[in-house]
Amino acid sequence: MRAEAMRDCAFLLTLLFLFDSIVQILGLGLGINYGQIANNLPSPSRVAFLLESLNINRVKLYDADPNVLQAFSNSNVEFVVGVGNEYLLNMTDSNKALAWVKQHVLRHLPWTRITCITVGNEVLSGNDTQLMSYLLPAIHSIYNALVSLGMNDRVNVTTAHSLSILANSFPPSSGAFRQDLGEYIQPLLNFHSQIKSPFLINAYPYFAYKDNPNEVSLDYVLFQSNQGMTDPNTNLKYDNMLYAQIDAVYSAIKRMGHTDIEVRISETGWPSKGDPDEVGASPENARIYNGNLLRRIEEGQGTPLKPSIPIDIYVFALFNEDLKPGPASERNYGLYYPDGTPVYDIGLRGYLAEMVSASKTKNMSFLGFIIFITAFLICG
Ligand SMILES: *[C@@H]1O[C@H](CO)[C@@H](O)[C@H](O)[C@H]1NC(C)=O
Ligand SMILES: *[C@@H]1O[C@H](CO)[C@@H](O)[C@H](O)[C@H]1NC(C)=O
Ligand SMILES: *[C@@H]1O[C@H](CO)[C@@H](O)[C@H](O)[C@H]1NC(C)=O
Ligand SMILES: *[C@@H]1O[C@H](CO)[C@@H](O)[C@H](O)[C@H]1NC(C)=O
Repeated sequence: MRAEAMRDCAFLLTLLFLFDSIVQILGLGLGINYGQIANNLPSPSRVAFLLESLNINRVKLYDADPNVLQAFSNSNVEFVVGVGNEYLLNMTDSNKALAWVKQHVLRHLPWTRITCITVGNEVLSGNDTQLMSYLLPAIHSIYNALVSLGMNDRVNVTTAHSLSILANSFPPSSGAFRQDLGEYIQPLLNFHSQIKSPFLINAYPYFAYKDNPNEVSLDYVLFQSNQGMTDPNTNLKYDNMLYAQIDAVYSAIKRMGHTDIEVRISETGWPSKGDPDEVGASPENARIYNGNLLRRIEEGQGTPLKPSIPIDIYVFALFNEDLKPGPASERNYGLYYPDGTPVYDIGLRGYLAEMVSASKTKNMSFLGFIIFITAFLICG
């Protein structure tokens, strides 16, 4: 690129950055899980560039890696950071919780936008009852730390669950939590309701398909056109399994007495590769699942039970992670290879595509549109 073109490009990128904030308020956009169980990932600053070019501005981490949070300072990216399960016991101690929040969150604000802390991941679906008993106390003391720092309105506190905490998920209206988890879930829900924080669930229609490929319709799990399912109790029609799973969680929460808690998807995705017995793991299915999901996110769709609440989703994951244990699928959920090339194309084309789709459905200034087009032509 010539020097002039590069200067123009830099200038236009700055303008883009400003317009990015406008685009952002037009829709929630795709969130992405940035897992780092790998030894070959690009540096956080390269990742920041990749995400900026794709216009992805919602990222979820499993820890609070200071290198990542630093690399995204003054970016438009909004972060969910995590407290690992191994720290839960310590976090029940209010002094340690306060120290953690100061060191991992406060230090980065406001340069890096951290809007949520997940305390523990899939604790209730494991079999460590001691860990389960630490969960709410740990969430509580992190929340209290935020309150004492005056940050509780800017940063939510929650935890992420596996869908297997449900005993029942179909039809969605009969969604119910496992009875043996009630003693943990009831007080947790009461706390969510009190502090107005969202309930996060990791939901993988892929698992349902893999376990039962002869009975579960592939089109239904991949958001392709299909005859769908009707919930006999509500008469609501479901054309895909993910929405049915989300509504099953809403029903389970309602069964515990709450209608005031928002459900969000902290993980969903589809592997592009798997072991021979992992039916359905292929680049084609992964592309269709994530591509169709992206389209629905862009449309701001809600589920049949909550049509006015746009689905809020973090896809798993940004990169293939070569050091993840377990079956081959575990290492192949990424949208990108570690070298930054896409594993498949889901139609994330960055600003231009974003602008065109936004200008179709929303009002967009003529100037903004021209800047986007020009930047696209000059920067490529
Ligand atoms: C928990 O706190 C103790 C005492 O401060 C510390 O020695 C230990 O390393 C902490 N545990 C973890 C997992 O960080
Ligand atoms: C449950 O505990 C057993 C034995 O301690 C362990 O082998 C297994 O992996 C655990 N399962 C889960 C889901 O953590
Ligand atoms: C916290 O969660 C609530 C409920 O889901 C949501 O309305 C609010 O916008 C969230 N706050 C932040 C700072 O993201
Ligand atoms: C677009 O602008 C027109 C006129 O200014 C207004 O009536 C309309 O509601 C706007 N549409 C959206 C989606 O904001």
